Amino acid sequence: VSDDAERFRTLSRECTSGVFWNPFRTPGEELATLAAACGELGINEPDIYGEWGAVARLEEQVGQLLGKPAVMFPSGVMAQQSMLRLWCERSGSMRVALPDLSHLLLHEDDGPRLVHGFRFEHLTTGATVPTAEAFTDLTGRLGHGLGAVLVELPLREAGCLLPTWEELTALSVATRGAGVPLHADGARIWESQPFYDRPLSEIVGLVDSIYVSFYKGLGGLSGACVAAPEDLVGELRTWRRRMGGTLYRLTPYAVSALVGLRDQLPRMAEYLAWARALAAELVTNGLTVSPDPPHTNTFQVFAPGDVEQINERLFAFMAREKRRLGYPWRASEVPGVAMCELPVAAAALAHDPVQVARWIASVAGD
Ligand SMILES: Cc1ncc(COP(=O)(O)O)c(C=O)c1O
Repeated sequence: VSDDAERFRTLSRECTSGVFWNPFRTPGEELATLAAACGELGINEPDIYGEWGAVARLEEQVGQLLGKPAVMFPSGVMAQQSMLRLWCERSGSMRVALPDLSHLLLHEDDGPRLVHGFRFEHLTTGATVPTAEAFTDLTGRLGHGLGAVLVELPLREAGCLLPTWEELTALSVATRGAGVPLHADGARIWESQPFYDRPLSEIVGLVDSIYVSFYKGLGGLSGACVAAPEDLVGELRTWRRRMGGTLYRLTPYAVSALVGLRDQLPRMAEYLAWARALAAELVTNGLTVSPDPPHTNTFQVFAPGDVEQINERLFAFMAREKRRLGYPWRASEVPGVAMCELPVAAAALAHDPVQVARWIASVAGD
């Protein structure tokens, strides 16, 4: 843990409110909310190894929303590796095309390659959206088959960047034409729905499988689902067990996901609108945002300056105002430019974006 992360954590404990991400709750508060939710939702029986109870209810609800049967997993890392393994075994190739900024390449400690033997090819590089042309170019260059293509919707490390509906449709047509399964890393697909302004099932209809997360925009404890064709559901459950994910009780995670679907999913358009209002104000204050305007509730802000000095000002702000204002800043790819990710959720909406932009500008500026 870096010094900045440690100081941020210590100061966070003394804050009485926060602007970004989901509100801080003690474990006791979190579990009390879930206990109350069991009563509200009528969850009276526990799951046993992921069968029955809240887990069955969640899989049913997610399946309805996404238009494909869903299987719950304790983590997205496990969910996606399982799904890709199935596609690759079916396709007879362990090669997966994905963005070089994909979670699988940046945040999984090489597990997908070491555990499953995937070979990765870059579908896109940097902050670019996946297109049919990128897919066709890659398959032309490779000269051998791909087991699957992965798109991250939205691409988190690029400020939660999304392809347009037309770009995504064209990619879907191209992969289907080539007989290559298209899988979506939809960790933030709930947050992406207002950008497309189409039902989730229509968006998911363009891909062959998708992983969704319950603890980002939905604010749950942890957990994920994979939605996939009916004939792969049994094998997905087998891979969940093989990888140690069929916990004796998944109920707490499933209940927290049901709460998120009930309370947070209907608010995603509000969060996007507030994020766009804040982004516009940040630009007025001389900062750069990406994407501009944001595609989802989460985007990146950039400022020229020294990361350490910016974080000193951030920590001073937190100590003075007893308010969390995002997370510590970090270096961007451009020397001398610092950046920070801003995830907008319910807490932000209690604030005026004009005021929040001024706070951020004062932290970022000299
Ligand atoms: C884009 C993306 N994919 C996959 C994951 C993995 O999810 P989990 O933390 O549930 O394993 C994350 C988590 O942050 C993510 O942001």
